[in-house]
Parts: sequence; C-alpha cells; structure tokens
Amino acid sequence: MCGIVGAVSQRNIVPILLQGLQRLEYRGYDSCGVAVHQGGELKRARSTARVTELDAQVHQDGIEGFIGIAHTRWATHGAPAVHNAHPHFSHGVGADAQSSKAGRIALVHNGIIENHDELRAELQARGYVFNSQTDTEVIAHLVDSLYQHDLFEAVLQAIQRLKGAYAIAVFCREEPQRVIGARAGSPLVLGVGQGENFLASDAMALAGVTDQIVYLDEGDVVDLQQGKYWISGRKTEGGFARVERPVKTVHAHSGAAELGPYRHYMQKEIFEQPRAIGDTLEGIAGITPDLFGDDAYRVFQSIDKVLILACGTSYYSGCTAKYWLESIAKMPTQVEIASEYRYRDSVPDPKTLIVTISQSGETADTLAALKHARSLGMAQTLTICNVSTSAMVRECKLAYITRAGVEIGVASTKAFTSQLAGLFLLTLALAQSRGLLSEAEEAEHLKAMRHLPVALQAVLALEPQVIAWAEEFASKENALFLGRGLHYPIALEGALKLKEISYIHAEAYPAGELKHGPLALVTAQMPVVTIAPNDALLEKLKSNLQEVRARGGELYVFADGDTKIESGPGLHVIRMPEHYGPLSPILHVVPLQLLAYHTACARGTDVDKPRNLAKSVTVE
Ligand code: G6P
Repeated sequence: MCGIVGAVSQRNIVPILLQGLQRLEYRGYDSCGVAVHQGGELKRARSTARVTELDAQVHQDGIEGFIGIAHTRWATHGAPAVHNAHPHFSHGVGADAQSSKAGRIALVHNGIIENHDELRAELQARGYVFNSQTDTEVIAHLVDSLYQHDLFEAVLQAIQRLKGAYAIAVFCREEPQRVIGARAGSPLVLGVGQGENFLASDAMALAGVTDQIVYLDEGDVVDLQQGKYWISGRKTEGGFARVERPVKTVHAHSGAAELGPYRHYMQKEIFEQPRAIGDTLEGIAGITPDLFGDDAYRVFQSIDKVLILACGTSYYSGCTAKYWLESIAKMPTQVEIASEYRYRDSVPDPKTLIVTISQSGETADTLAALKHARSLGMAQTLTICNVSTSAMVRECKLAYITRAGVEIGVASTKAFTSQLAGLFLLTLALAQSRGLLSEAEEAEHLKAMRHLPVALQAVLALEPQVIAWAEEFASKENALFLGRGLHYPIALEGALKLKEISYIHAEAYPAGELKHGPLALVTAQMPVVTIAPNDALLEKLKSNLQEVRARGGELYVFADGDTKIESGPGLHVIRMPEHYGPLSPILHVVPLQLLAYHTACARGTDVDKPRNLAKSVTVE
C-alpha cells in the first residue's frame, strides 16, 4: 500500500529516496513520485510505472537535492494516473501564486482524509485550483493557506482541521532546511542518521541508511533538519508540547531479499515454511503463559472468553484457532472481521481476552478494532504478530512474535502458518492455565510441534503433483473449495489464495452446506477441491463427495494416507504424507498455496503483486 520516504541531508538524497521506495514496492502500488528542493524551486518526477522507471526519469531530468520526499501510491481517491500521483504541490494564491509557478508546498500522504470535500470547497472559494482528484492535494493547499514563513506552525494548524487517518511528509520552497512529518492513524517513523534525518512509513524503507529509529506516536508532529529534530506530541487537554521519544536500534531487513532459485517471492515463501515454523517455535522448552509476556499468567486467570480480531488471511488463522481454543482450552471464542467489529453494536464483556492477529501489525482496521474493543472496557489484549516493532505490538499488553521473516508476496503464506503455530501455543497456554493440560498431553503436543518442519518438507515434495492439477485449473473460471470442522477455514484460505493471484472466482463452503445451495453450481466445468483429513468427520465428508460425483462434478481431493479415498473417474487424489491430528491445518494449507501459485503462473499473472491488492493495508 502507500509508502512514504523523506530526507534532510548535506548530500544528494534522491538515491536514498528511490531505494526507500524500492524497499516498499512489494506492498503494492500503482504510481510513484519524488520531489526535492533544487535551485530555489520545487522539482518533481511522477510515474504510473515502476520505481525503476521513475529512477530513469529522475536521471534524465537531473533531479537532485538535499531535502526531499517520495511516495508510492495505492489509489483510493482518484484513478491511478500521473496527475493523482504524489508528491502534490500547492501553488499559493494571490501574490504567492505569482512568485511560485512551480509550487510552494510539496506533500505526500498515506491514509484517507474524510472531510476532504468540505476542505476542497473552502479552499476553492479562496482561489486554490485543484489538479487531481485526491484527498492529498487538499492537505497541500490547506498547509499553503496557513503558511506564514514557518512550515512547522502551518502543519500544526492544518492537521487540526483534518478528519481521518494520515501520515504526511511536507516541505516548502521557502524553507530549504526542513521536512515536517505528522501522523495520526497511519504509521510514520523517524530515522536518525549522522548529520542527516529521515522519515518513512516503515523502518524497512531505511534499511542500510540508518538503524536508529524513533516510532512516532499517534498525533506526533516532527520537524526534521540537518543533524537535529524536534517532536511535538498532542496534549490530552488539547494543543501540542515538545516530547522526547525513545530512539531504538532496529535491524530492519531490506524488502529486496534474494529470490534465490525461486521464480517468485510467493514460491520462495511457501518453501520457507519449515524454517519459519521452526524459528517461530524455537527455544520453547515447555508451555507457560510467560511465552506471551510477563503479565500473561495474571491476564489468563482474569478472562473467561476470547475475541479474535483480524483481516484477510489473518482472519482465517483466527477462524482455525477458534476450533482449537474451544476443543482444547474449552474457551468460548468469537472471531470477527476487524472492519465489521469496529462499526457494529456489540455486547462487551471485560472478562474477554482480545486477540489481534496481523502479519504486518499495521493494518488500519485491525488497529481500529483493537482500540474500539478497549474503549468498550476490554483491557486484556494480546497480539500474534510478525513485526515486533509494529503499532500492534506496541498497543497490546501481551504478544507472541512469529518469526516468519519479511513476507514480500502480497498473498500471505508463511505468515499464515506461523500465526497458526503461535495460536496453537496460545491454546495450550490457556488450557494449562485452566488446568486442562496434563504433562503427558503437553509433551505430546510439543513433540508434534517440533516435528512440523519435517512434516512440512514432506508436503512440499508434493509440488510436481500439484503442478499437474494447476495446468488443468488454469483454464477454469470458477472453483469450489470444501472442508469440514477445523479444515473449513483452510478451505476458505485456499479459495482466497486462488482468487487473489490467479483471478479465478473461488468460493469455500463447509462440505455439509453443499446441498443448501452451492450444489446447484456443480458441473464438469467446476473443479471441487476438497480437504480430506482422516478425522472424525471423514465418513460425513465422503458422503459429500458422492453428492458432487453424482452431479458430474470433478473432485480434486487432498486426502490423508489412510482415508481410503482412491482416484477414479472424476476423482483426482493427492495423498498427504501423514495425518497430523489437531495441527493438520498447518499441513493441509500448503498444497492449496501451491495450487494457487502454479495456477497463477500458468495463467501468467503478476503473482507477487496481484492487481488492485496491497500487502500492508494501512487505510480503512
Ligand atoms: C492484506 C494482505 C493480506 C493480509 C491482510 C491482513 O489484504 O494482502 O495478505 O492477510 O492484509 O494483513 P495483516 O498484516 O494484518 O495480517
């Protein structure tokens, strides 16, 4: 999704800005741009192509400067077009306009300004002319309208007029020594260098530039100059005051990780799963609430239900965990899509443990849902998150950090299975704190968890068989995924993967629901993918398969070894290496990831950056 980089230095900062954008590219964007202060004017280049094209344009136009800002845009207001790409310039009005043909204020923005229509009308009445359909241009003109030779003051005043979410970076033609940043609802960090300072929407953008990072708080405004910076924070009684924020050493990995022998990051990440799960579970000698934080024992004793909040793939890991939490820890569990929960009337219970699940830790809806739950008096919060420095981890009392490593493919794979590992640990810790986990059971679960990397390797070895299926799927336009119980959320995740990257319409159903609607869709043209573990529901599932066969449907079944489901006419079977009890979803999702991946490859789509989607969704 949108990315911001800004810099103030004594050297040409354009290469740093462009490298920063490149590190954020994997999140998905549809246009990009950079602006600098050069020769007393604002200069910019913008493109609807990739950052490498922007780089070429910048060289051709000779754009250089000591201060500047850059942006990757994922369109919300206004089509992906050059005139809507950031940075946006204000032109000033009256006497200011005559002296500033090329613009006075340069600004980039992540987030959504909800009152942009009202502000636009007000600014148009004052003579401002708009060149884009974006909500961002409104902020540029607003800052311009409030500017009286002090950019920091103008930004302070402007943000008090904004409703919605933003992270912004701004500079002014008349003040070539400073860049101002501000955030509310969207992430922004300050990078402290040697005599130079930086801004970015994610510390990863600054990898290799500086590892000294300040995470700005909600409402902070920062004034960046060469070798110095000041932060103002919002006071509870209103207004702003100077604040100190801790500088942290952050070893952010570069997003541009090596692809190695793989064709795409998604394929690489699928194959990294044995390592990711191994790392996520490393060093766990026994189950104890402390794994989730020092206060976890007390928190676990104080709650009697769980509410999971998440979006996308992370929501499906929550749906899987519900089965574990209710069957193993006997903990009543509700799972809600964050964007729904935050806006509906619900019945809060202070004895609820709020569990957020997020790969990035920056998903706007999940963060807002967490805050909403807290505002309703539910103070016990825990996150399963892949980024230890994220807003989600900072906002939650307790955390389990998965160690999937940087995930670049927009379609989440290794982050999902690592979340499942973290959620299974949570289940065991809650069961133990309620006296529901004997030592023998604990030892058995730990043994199964430690064996997961090996079991996953055996599943990955099925890739050639999955490729053969993918070639058949590539010519289809619809697919149905079936699962039961613990594997119904895995069917949902399999369908999501296929639609995200191959653009084949895919739906998932609990197999028992088939005859209540989707059976009407079943023809020879409709592949029906079925997850068939050897669990208590196997015989029921076999009846559902018969219902599909009887209507001429083509079945593609991932069956555990001892299910006695054999290939035959209209029935294709790939045999899973071993049945894995409650941890079976972690294995069964892997061939579904491979199926989506190879189908997408066969259809020639942009696997790592599927159209219209973003990796880290920092707007609502
Ligand atoms: C986006 C990504 C998905 C991800 C979802 C939630 O839609 O493309 O892969 O599952 O956001 O993101 P989170 O970082 O909160 O897990």
